[in-house]
Amino acid sequence: MAGRIPQHFIDELLARIDIVDIIDAYVPLKKAGRNHQACCPFHDEKTPSFTVSQPKQFYHCFGCGANGTAISFLMEYLHMGFIEAIEDLASRAGLEIPRDTVQTSNTNNQSSELYELMEIVTGYYSKQLRNHPQAETVITYLKNRGISGEIAAEYELGFAPPGWDNLLSELGGSDESQKRLLKIGAIIENDRGGYYDRFRDRLTFPIRDQRGRAIGMGGRVLGDDKPKYLNSPETPIFHKGRELYGLFQARKTLKEVDSLFVVEGYMDVIALAQFGIRNAVASLGTAATPEHMEKMFRITNKIVFCFDGDEAGNKAAWRGLENSLPLLKDDKQVYFMFLPAGEDPDTFVQNKGKEAFLDANLQTPLSEYLFDYLGKGMNLESLEDQASMAKVTLPYVGKLSTAPALTSGLLRKLSGITRIPAEELTQQLREYKTTGTTNIPLRRIRNTTGKNDGQQSQLTEAIKLLLRKPELALVDSLNERLSEIEVKGIEFLIEIVNYIQSNPKTTLAGITENYRDREKVRNRLIELAPTESKYGDADFSDESIRDSFFDSITRLKEITIDAKLREFGNISNMDDLTEDKKQEWRLLLKAKKELKLEKT
Ligand code: UTP
Ligand code: MN
Repeated sequence: MAGRIPQHFIDELLARIDIVDIIDAYVPLKKAGRNHQACCPFHDEKTPSFTVSQPKQFYHCFGCGANGTAISFLMEYLHMGFIEAIEDLASRAGLEIPRDTVQTSNTNNQSSELYELMEIVTGYYSKQLRNHPQAETVITYLKNRGISGEIAAEYELGFAPPGWDNLLSELGGSDESQKRLLKIGAIIENDRGGYYDRFRDRLTFPIRDQRGRAIGMGGRVLGDDKPKYLNSPETPIFHKGRELYGLFQARKTLKEVDSLFVVEGYMDVIALAQFGIRNAVASLGTAATPEHMEKMFRITNKIVFCFDGDEAGNKAAWRGLENSLPLLKDDKQVYFMFLPAGEDPDTFVQNKGKEAFLDANLQTPLSEYLFDYLGKGMNLESLEDQASMAKVTLPYVGKLSTAPALTSGLLRKLSGITRIPAEELTQQLREYKTTGTTNIPLRRIRNTTGKNDGQQSQLTEAIKLLLRKPELALVDSLNERLSEIEVKGIEFLIEIVNYIQSNPKTTLAGITENYRDREKVRNRLIELAPTESKYGDADFSDESIRDSFFDSITRLKEITIDAKLREFGNISNMDDLTEDKKQEWRLLLKAKKELKLEKT
């Protein structure tokens, strides 16, 4: 397993490299004032609105809103994965990536040996399908399942013959070779320290990664034995949550991948291929992970999850939805296809044919599925259920951070269903995104939202200024002042301040990368990240940023005091108060007076 890359390393890496050099290599930049500019690589334009800030190590496009760090740039522009982008930058900077888990430095050499061995094992089993005296049973089995010789050859299906040591005696001649076979999961160690073949008397399915390297395999029994399928275990070269069976073959046969069907099993992929549907991949019995989704969205704009029409299928579909939301873009879509109970893609295509399988009517768009699923069992005529529907739905809409058109579409639809005005839902969504909590009471009373706005906009302002000038977090008295503020969402500001205090050299880039695991928060930060003024940063002097920041902090303190004073507002006779309460009231008044003095 590749270990987690520690955050301090990412910070150091971002500090070592220069985003201007990185981007300039792909998108030639021109210096313009303090920034660098180019025509935006992420949308079509004639005049440059793509700006790269060296001090901030951040890019931003005024035209399409694309923005991020050097890491994001490599991910967006070169379609790299996160780890890949880090590896790329590390090698440019000449830094070695430390991993949180133990990993030896000669991993690469070791892995290439393991890939080679896996290739040999794959070849060994497909040779058995052609040459082994008992191979006839498998060939008959495949014929009965409607699989032709061409498809079997294309997917390199094989035969693991009966017996405990076929592979072992062929490839495991030395201690060393046995260790390696064990490492790729082809053999298993018994409790006496000996070994035996993992795959015995099974039809085998080699699994290749996107680059075509053999990484693992699956094997199906020919009868009714259990378990029906065996898979390679997790090994240094095989990670189930990352790989998609059939992706390599799909890319090999198709020039353009318009869409990808995600099915559950090996045989579903093979049967669909048999019917000329070459764009199916299997997630190998697990629910599709975010890594799977990212991998697929890098090569296609449309994913169709295809599930058996049973309870397990429904569960897997919902998991797929949850994992898709953060990755959706307005041009990246997800559909769900529910097969009739008792059918899987294999039986469906065999019984009903290609056209029936491809019928668009079977595909439910994600938005429709979302509302159907969440609204199940609700009576949307009742005010209570309308409010709960809004409340349960908003967090899901909130995960959709990179699909603005879809977001507003969903809000419109939610408004139609719940009869809560779209503007109110939008406001609630914004609040949910700032505070990150689902516990927003959906009060439908207008005058309270007005008050909230004041707090929220001050808080937002403070965060924005802090992102513009992270050093503000290092001012001595700040922590104490923050501790006196009680408004919703203040924890978020405090968290960023703490992060900067423990990483004083961090930049905007470092701060947003720190939240890479917390999509919602990170997107919120990116939303708040300073956009360069078109005319450079000149109208934001350091003092003015600093002053505005502390003004916001003062305002937040004032809001806190006012809210507390308001609680006293309903009491007509001061004498009804306990001594403690009276004291509290006096202190509040005093604090308020001091704030006024401070301001002038
Ligand atoms: P299914 O049980 O739906 O199998 O499991 P299937 O693909 O329809 O198989 P056939 O049609 O009977 O041959 C779906 C997937 O779940 C994983 C396999 O990846 C399988 O393709 N699985 C299933 C296992 O890993 N182990 C099992 O014992 C069963
Ligand atoms: Mn099946």
